[in-house]
Amino acid sequence: TGYTTLDYGFVNTAATKSTITYIDGDAGILRYRGYPIEQLAGSSSYLEVAWLLIYGELPTADQLAEFDERIRRHTLLHEDLKRFFSALPHTAHPMAVISSALSALSTYYENSDDPKDPEQVELTTIRLLAKLPVIAAYAHKKSLGQAFLYPDNSLSFVDNYLKLNFGNLAEPYEIDPVLSGALERLLILHADHEQNASTSTVRLVGSTGANLYASISAGINALSGPLHGGANEAVLDMLGQIRDSGEGVARFVERVKNKEDGVKLMGFGHRVYKNYDPRAKIVKESADSVLEHLGVKDPLLDLAKELEQIALEDDYFKERRLYPNVDFYTGVIYKAMGFPTRMFTVLFAIGRLPGWIAHWREMNLDPQSKIGRPQQLYVGPAEREFPQR
Ligand code: CMC
Repeated sequence: TGYTTLDYGFVNTAATKSTITYIDGDAGILRYRGYPIEQLAGSSSYLEVAWLLIYGELPTADQLAEFDERIRRHTLLHEDLKRFFSALPHTAHPMAVISSALSALSTYYENSDDPKDPEQVELTTIRLLAKLPVIAAYAHKKSLGQAFLYPDNSLSFVDNYLKLNFGNLAEPYEIDPVLSGALERLLILHADHEQNASTSTVRLVGSTGANLYASISAGINALSGPLHGGANEAVLDMLGQIRDSGEGVARFVERVKNKEDGVKLMGFGHRVYKNYDPRAKIVKESADSVLEHLGVKDPLLDLAKELEQIALEDDYFKERRLYPNVDFYTGVIYKAMGFPTRMFTVLFAIGRLPGWIAHWREMNLDPQSKIGRPQQLYVGPAEREFPQR
């Protein structure tokens, strides 16, 4: 009503109420639907957490089994959609591939456009959860020039995903329960984070009445930036550059502090967490155990730890309350599992998918929600005459 507050980056403005995720950034608390992230990461599964986020309560054993079964039965992609991948260069960034493929996927389901039709929303929810991992694995296979595998519906969600990425047609795929467990945990840790940039994007696009495919595809694009999900890829690139340059960690930290060339310590800092990121703590422990299990000695993990140590003791980082975030150690684990760096943010997207869906659905069920339409303060020229010609 004629009163506009300027709030760059929405630092102080809430755009919605939500019942999904609670964060206390000072205390380092993260809960999905009231359940602490540490407990969920320790003993739940990705699909159980997906159900919890989307429907609000933990599923019964029967509900979870039925949900799992429905998702398994929707993993196949239309054969024509498989050809979509061959139109793209093998150098294509997998984030661009998966967001485009999701937009393309919507064209196969023309009657899925009504956000108020609960049956359609339900079916689209299942299709997205089932097909995004397959699309993501095909983006990976495409980059390697390897044959696409069909999903193996006898396997669990995570095992199926690992097989689609690392199996080949010539030999049987061996499941490694330690890796499956680690990936399951990482997906849970990424599953929601209230109104972050990509989730806000999903809500904003959805607020126009756009369907779930369009909204999630937009969310994937928002996630791809290095300040958001793209940070996990950027961390590995940064560690590799520090190693290859031979400049040493201390010198790199100096460059960050002097803001030389705008260089930042990727994987550090968070808009909300000003004490520590509870996810980062779990990921760090996981990095140690996965690498130990695989018998991998990765000098980049040592470099990351050295970097963390130096940064945590430095006044620049202390004053600004900058701590490692979820992206700091995830890349080291994904790398040890065999994922190329450019797939890291895709793994974040698969993890975040249930959260995006839950927020889109919450918004569509909320009678108070409206089309998202931020205000601006106009600071351009006052009215002036266009020159006579
Ligand atoms: N390295 C060096 N300085 C930093 C960093 C960093 N990673 N992050 C923040 N700062 C400084 C920033 O320059 C500013 O300093 P000054 O007051 O001297 O201008 C101060 O700390 C406050 O930072 P800000 O940019 O106002 O904070 P923000 O809340 O707008 O940004 C952030 C949050 C996550 C974008 C930022 O911390 C950042 O760019 N981090 C690196 C990228 C990253 O790891 N992103 C992943 C975030 S967590 C998972 C996810 O959402 O995907």
